[in-house]
Amino acid sequence: MNYTENKLSDLRKRVSLRMSEKRFSHTLGVERCAALLGKLILPDFVSELQAAAILHDVAKEMPLSEQISLLKAEKFPLTDEDTVTVGVIHSFTAPIVIKRDFSDFATQNILSATEKHTVGSSDMTLFDMIIFVSDYIEDTRVFESCVRVREALLTDIENDSYEKRIVRLKNACIMAIDGAENALLRQGLPINSRMNKTRNFLLKNNFQN
Ligand SMILES: [Fe+2]
Repeated sequence: MNYTENKLSDLRKRVSLRMSEKRFSHTLGVERCAALLGKLILPDFVSELQAAAILHDVAKEMPLSEQISLLKAEKFPLTDEDTVTVGVIHSFTAPIVIKRDFSDFATQNILSATEKHTVGSSDMTLFDMIIFVSDYIEDTRVFESCVRVREALLTDIENDSYEKRIVRLKNACIMAIDGAENALLRQGLPINSRMNKTRNFLLKNNFQN
């Protein structure tokens, strides 16, 4: 799917009304990063990646009780740990909100990438991985582990072969998971086991390459 700049601009305006200025600025950072990686890895999907990035946090500021009601109505297989692990549920709510309120953008790629952007899954596509890692490394983020992953992924990536770019993308996703899990460990917070499954999937995938 290709979206025109007008269509993306309209989407940005609509999404900005659903979040704080700070979150919208993060959203635009994710869009920039997804566009950059898209040009290098999935050049036929750049505008669709931009749309997924703009929409990835669309449900993040909805009240938790409203999100849980929506997920229950959709019979989403919510686990006990999904409700206690911080900042995960909104990624499961996003596809429901996109189908309901942004139906022009309810493509398989966008629904999948928004759903998987926090904890991933054990069947991630390159499209999913670009949104996942862009959320972690976008350029408004300054914490140390994010800078490390950003440099590992982006430094001179344009000089790499296509195959090497893919390996770097997968490795960057693993580094992002490690960074996110370390932060949770330091704060004494639980880790959603879906994230470990994603990490194992990415490692196995790398060993096969
Ligand atoms: Fe985000």
